[in-house]
Amino acid sequence: MTTALITGSTAGIGAAFARRLAADGHDLVLVARDTERLRKQADELHDRHRVEVQVLSADLSTEKGIESVAARLGDPARPVDLLVNNAGFGLKGRYLEVSMADELRMLTVHCEAVLRLTSAAAEAMRGRGRGAVVNVASVAAFVPRGTYGASKAWVVQFTQGAAKDLAGSGVRLMVLCPGFVRTEFHSRAGMGTDNIPGWMWLDADKLVAEGLRDLAKGKTLSVPDARYKALLGASKLVPRGMLGRVSSGAGRKYGPK
Ligand SMILES: NC(=O)c1ccc[n+]([C@@H]2O[C@H](COP(=O)([O-])OP(=O)(O)OC[C@H]3O[C@@H](n4cnc5c(N)ncnc54)[C@H](OP(=O)(O)O)[C@@H]3O)[C@@H](O)[C@H]2O)c1
Repeated sequence: MTTALITGSTAGIGAAFARRLAADGHDLVLVARDTERLRKQADELHDRHRVEVQVLSADLSTEKGIESVAARLGDPARPVDLLVNNAGFGLKGRYLEVSMADELRMLTVHCEAVLRLTSAAAEAMRGRGRGAVVNVASVAAFVPRGTYGASKAWVVQFTQGAAKDLAGSGVRLMVLCPGFVRTEFHSRAGMGTDNIPGWMWLDADKLVAEGLRDLAKGKTLSVPDARYKALLGASKLVPRGMLGRVSSGAGRKYGPK
């Protein structure tokens, strides 16, 4: 039996990872801030799939939260075989419209927490000669799009670089780059989604299935779905200034949902 730890497990993409990994027979450690929601999710997954599910309430924008999850990942008595660094959020507003406190909170959750949790997990996994880490970034990593895109670009560069450094150790690292996925992400940030065409939306369960297939193939970068592979290919042909204008507008209509 193997154990997977998923951050941001209670909603959206993280919840899809939890469903899929439990169905595949993995024990789980679920991480998010909302303890009640975590407990309910743990009970449901345990009852449905008969796997062990531990709950770890932690706010990954705080030192205490990051430290508690890092300690769990490094615990030699309870090895974690797969880490999914998924917790994240969007911010309503363009550069200088968002408070500095929120910008810094985003960098802490998207970058500092990912660095420290990946490192805690990879260190322990390297000692055992096996394990894997999936870091959830975004296709926004490849276009100019404020602190969100910049933080996700860091996740891509960091993960692919660390994967190279760990090659041959038995520890695999992969960065997953979703396009638009129907989750709580946009409503939590107060972002309207009216201007996002229907064909651009991905299903969280299919996204996770494709991501896990790519991990099994040994990829270090996963961009699920042919639509987004094609878009990324085309974006390389578009001048960066034009790309910035388009990406800055997409998904940022702050009206009603
Ligand atoms: N949805 C999209 O279109 C999309 C596209 C590309 C990439 N992504 C990325 O995918 C990841 C998951 O997003 P999602 O769409 O599934 O969002 P979501 O539905 O809003 O879920 C976010 C999850 O993260 C947890 N979380 C948020 N802040 C946290 C914190 N400070 N500490 C610990 N847990 C925290 C939330 O639980 P609590 O509130 O209980 O903490 C929740 O479980 C994010 O990294 C996001 O950037 C999303």
